[in-house]
Amino acid sequence: MKALVLSGGAGTRLRPITHTSAKQLVPVANKAVLFYGLESIAAAGITDVGLVVGDTAEEIREAVGDGSKFGLDITYIPQERPLGLAHAVLIAREYLGDDDFVMYLGDNFIVGGITGLVEEFRATRPDAQILLTRVSDPRAFGVAELGPTGQVIGLEEKPERPKSDLALVGVYLFTPAVHEAVRAITPSWRGELEITHALQHLLDTGADVRCTVIKGYWKDTGNVGDMLEVNRTVLEDVERRVDGETDASEIIGRVVVEEGARVVRSRIVGPVVIGAGTVVSDSYVGPFTSIAENCRIQESELEFSIVLRDSSIDGVGRIENSLIGRHAQVTTAPSVPSAHRLVLGDHSKVQIHT
Ligand code: G1P
Repeated sequence: MKALVLSGGAGTRLRPITHTSAKQLVPVANKAVLFYGLESIAAAGITDVGLVVGDTAEEIREAVGDGSKFGLDITYIPQERPLGLAHAVLIAREYLGDDDFVMYLGDNFIVGGITGLVEEFRATRPDAQILLTRVSDPRAFGVAELGPTGQVIGLEEKPERPKSDLALVGVYLFTPAVHEAVRAITPSWRGELEITHALQHLLDTGADVRCTVIKGYWKDTGNVGDMLEVNRTVLEDVERRVDGETDASEIIGRVVVEEGARVVRSRIVGPVVIGAGTVVSDSYVGPFTSIAENCRIQESELEFSIVLRDSSIDGVGRIENSLIGRHAQVTTAPSVPSAHRLVLGDHSKVQIHT
């Protein structure tokens, strides 16, 4: 069995964090979303991975390399334009050969991995198997309609009037039966060959398409609350590891201080991760906070937040419930005039406590 991991995409949906970089590299607990996917593929006993890349190919290649750090053998498959998920299957035809495969969308996060699912597919081997999860706004997803016994009876891509709240999660298991289906369909209104339509084609031609409903799913929809929540879930499982330098600072509970990070005259209450090269001084960092690499946190308090790399927070009191992007600076303003001074990037959101 192989894996086909999709890490292209046009990046046309501008989101606060992903409009400057590949959405698959958005960090959760200081690790790219894509890496969790690759690790769960390796954990499921799959080693051959075709990685479909687009505009952000260089960034993805730099992060993933040849896959050996994940125990994977990665073959890059360039997709000239983002013409859809079924198009990715089409161009990967030669790579996939006649093997079964799991297709994994690199910007999806599945809590608990895919090992059980892959084992079930190997044992039962339907023509295709899909994952579904309940979402509050199904119109942003592929949506499944189930029959009375829970069997899949229909699938629609981003319907205006969804027939259920069961969204297609970006992990699909296929036998080679899918190749005929991706050749049979035509582009959707958004000009893409939709995998949802290929699955509907399989259903229409009498193929066995099974589904599993899961909990614990996340994808970057630009909702910061969801992102903080998935970050919290992952931090729940970190184990204490202090490889960086610490003085007499209080480091309480499950805290990761990466090698090359420094904690000085501070109090850190886990779960917290502090990335390499980051310096935390005269500060408090509270539960469910991820601080990425090369940040400076000085004379401030931070809790339930994510700080991406190369940012600094200096002398600003307490920050909670926040997502701070790369190379951001949060500092105090001069005492007169008594005013906020803001330089905010596109799609920024600031809530000021008065
Ligand atoms: C794609 C699929 C959609 C699925 C979603 C999951 O949407 O077309 O059916 O629910 O991935 O991430 P897209 O990311 O292209 O909007």
